[in-house]
Amino acid sequence: MTAPTDFSGPFVLRTLGTTGLQVTSLSIGCAPLGNMPETFTYEVGEEQALETIRAIFAGPINFLDTAASYGDGESERRLGLVIRELGGLPPGFVLATKADRDLQTGEFTGTQMCRSVERSLRLLGLDRLPLVYLHDPEHISFAEAMQPGGPVEALMQCQKEGLIAHLGVAGGPIDLMTQFVETDLFEAAISHNRYTLLNREAEPFWDVCQRHNVAAVNAAPYGSGMLAKGPGAYPRYMYGEAPEAMLRQARQMEAACARYDVPLAAAALQFSLRDPRIVSTVIGISRVERLAATVALAPQQIPEELWQELETIFQS
Ligand SMILES: NC(=O)c1ccc[n+]([C@@H]2O[C@H](COP(=O)([O-])OP(=O)(O)OC[C@H]3O[C@@H](n4cnc5c(N)ncnc54)[C@H](OP(=O)(O)O)[C@@H]3O)[C@@H](O)[C@H]2O)c1
Repeated sequence: MTAPTDFSGPFVLRTLGTTGLQVTSLSIGCAPLGNMPETFTYEVGEEQALETIRAIFAGPINFLDTAASYGDGESERRLGLVIRELGGLPPGFVLATKADRDLQTGEFTGTQMCRSVERSLRLLGLDRLPLVYLHDPEHISFAEAMQPGGPVEALMQCQKEGLIAHLGVAGGPIDLMTQFVETDLFEAAISHNRYTLLNREAEPFWDVCQRHNVAAVNAAPYGSGMLAKGPGAYPRYMYGEAPEAMLRQARQMEAACARYDVPLAAAALQFSLRDPRIVSTVIGISRVERLAATVALAPQQIPEELWQELETIFQS
């Protein structure tokens, strides 16, 4: 299959807060490309991943998201293979990765952050990482993350040494994420699975980001896949079985969308894209055809009545 190159769509460039980086409002998440069957339930082979990555670099979406932990380096390794084929990160592309705990030992220290950054540089084949997030800090306490010589200080040191251009924070629990944003040490923040048609926990978080001049990035608008594939095909949310009440809402939303001839995926994607507080929305893909499908979903007309029905279902 040839990589699609002729895209047009509403992928406007926006400034990623104080970083000054110009990124598309849609970003490609490379977690599934790291082959994570325990997270997504299916295998993603190397050829399929490489073909998808080549297509991403041939397309209009310039913002990519990965992490040291995705497939324990496999997502970065595969990205690095294509980056090398292309002779380096193509101009205009912004590649974000994340510094992680040691997945084998659980070590989440300053030393481990440096090891993680060094491995990312090596796997990706880069001398400098454009944007690195402190990843999933919920595995330690805020105090541990912030202690002298701890993870945050170590990442700031990597930044001083020029290994990292910009620093962000990416994780789950909103209270904890808020604490990190309030330190004013980070330029971008990712929340995931918590601002979708089915979950609004991150609603106040975007205002905190705005107040602190931190670029807000919303990941997993499909709740890890269910809102794109449908609750029948993929009855999971946030990497686990979806609870029955959520499945019921998802089915009702799917039926409401069908009445308006709108794919559930279009509503799920645009729910995030249309929020002016969010600089970029990150969707995961593991197949080349998802790119063209996404380009078609983003501009679909969604009548106001459907948004109201979806809201009523969410509130029910
Ligand atoms: N802590 C963090 O920082 C954090 C946490 C979660 C996510 N993230 C980032 O955000 C990204 C997005 O999250 P996610 O991948 O977990 O979840 P997601 O974007 O909500 O959903 C991803 C899944 O949706 C499917 N999909 C996408 N477009 C589709 C389409 N048009 N039709 C049918 N299925 C479609 C993909 O399936 P296929 O695999 O079949 O293509 C993929 O597995 C991640 O990849 C990661 O980069 C960061």
